[in-house]
Amino acid sequence: MRIYQPTLLSFTTIVLLYASAAAPGGSRQLLYTRDDPITIPPYLIFENVRLERAYVALQAWKRTMISDPWNLTANWFGSRVCDYNGVVCSSALDDPLVKTVSGVDLNHGDIAGHLPEELGLLTDIALFHVNSNRFCGTLPVGFLQLSLLFELDLSNNRFAGKFPKVVIGLPKLKYLDLRYNEFEGELPESLFDKDLDALFLNSNRFVSKIPVNMGNSPVSVLVLASNRFEGCIPTSFGKMGKTLNEIILMDNGLQSCLPDDMGLLRNVTVLDISYNLLVGELPKSMGVMENLEVLNVERNMLSGVMPDELCSLEKLRDFRYGSNYFTGEPSTCRYLENYNYTMNCLKDMRDQRSTMECTAFLSKPVDCDSFKCNPVSSCFSPPPRQISPSGQPSLAPAPSPNPPPPARPCPPLYSPPPPPPQAQQPAAQLRN
Ligand SMILES: *[C@@H]1O[C@H](CO)[C@@H](O)[C@H](O)[C@H]1NC(C)=O
Ligand SMILES: *[C@@H]1O[C@H](CO)[C@@H](O)[C@H](O)[C@H]1NC(C)=O
Ligand SMILES: *[C@@H]1O[C@H](CO)[C@@H](O)[C@H](O)[C@H]1NC(C)=O
Repeated sequence: MRIYQPTLLSFTTIVLLYASAAAPGGSRQLLYTRDDPITIPPYLIFENVRLERAYVALQAWKRTMISDPWNLTANWFGSRVCDYNGVVCSSALDDPLVKTVSGVDLNHGDIAGHLPEELGLLTDIALFHVNSNRFCGTLPVGFLQLSLLFELDLSNNRFAGKFPKVVIGLPKLKYLDLRYNEFEGELPESLFDKDLDALFLNSNRFVSKIPVNMGNSPVSVLVLASNRFEGCIPTSFGKMGKTLNEIILMDNGLQSCLPDDMGLLRNVTVLDISYNLLVGELPKSMGVMENLEVLNVERNMLSGVMPDELCSLEKLRDFRYGSNYFTGEPSTCRYLENYNYTMNCLKDMRDQRSTMECTAFLSKPVDCDSFKCNPVSSCFSPPPRQISPSGQPSLAPAPSPNPPPPARPCPPLYSPPPPPPQAQQPAAQLRN
């Protein structure tokens, strides 16, 4: 009888394992404690050693499963792991003659269990999809071995604890879906420096400010909805203009003005910032968001007159701005396919707030600077940026009649131009 020895888990993994087990807060220990090693019956013959390792990983996983109502793993026995339900095999990337497990898909399995360290033995997987199950615990550090993992979908499970930092160490990861779990606490800044294409974190229990470097993220889709994010919409937001397509920040506790240069988000089709505590006006620059189709700002405390061009944007068909304190809207908004203007302070319109409510709210001017959204707060902030009709950002003349404090000058708000092409090559290669 062969007994599997976990030599594949690197030294780092072992050290991390030890560190996790020794960490205070005890309950996690259980997850990291090794059960007896998986034994491989002597009569099992494997096509190659990678499939044998996959066998160990899958058996260790099956052992954690305490409920499998659809019997999905009923055929998870024997050496033909490529025939197991939910297991996808293909030629290894580094050796086309070797068959290996390249993906796992147990979506909608309703399986209860957890993810064991041994899953780190599936070193050839590109996809790991387990959405809509009842897996709990967190992501084991063994996942650090999955250097080809491209899509990780853990959505709609019962994972909990701090943001699983293990994912930051996955070099090929492009698609990260953690929505509908119970992850909590802060997001690591490094998440937004990672070369992801899609990031779904909605409906967890994250509580923190959104890291100021959000704008560094090259994602096309970013969904942070229904958590408890608070504070500013980072001023780096506009930097996402080259890649960002959809962004959903709804149902959090965000409390600031909108960054002036939102108009740089030229490729955004869906923008939803509803159900927050945002104040101030819709920036003029939003009138050049030429790809905008759906805009939802309802249930905030926004005010002022909306930019003239906004409702004339050719692709805009759905604009909800109810339950704010807007005092003026372009008449073109009436021609949109869907709109909702109720509960504002719009003159001569039905279903608005009372005059008293509007007067009381609007008598207090909004001071956007008071939110200190600029990450560099101890210096004099530069004049607001405006978008000229050509769409190019330009510096407006400084309006301030008060002399600025003689503080040191601010470093530039926006980072320097991108490094020369050769420095970007690793990212380009990743995309290939
Ligand atoms: C799963 O297997 C058990 C035991 O063999 C059986 O009783 C049950 O009906 C099966 N469930 C489904 C959904 O096939
Ligand atoms: C918008 O997206 C298209 C392709 O989808 C791309 O070619 C174009 O460069 C993008 N525009 C901006 C402003 O990034
Ligand atoms: C507008 O939104 C409010 C809630 O904010 C809702 O009660 C109302 O029915 C909506 N009106 C229309 C015309 O959709």
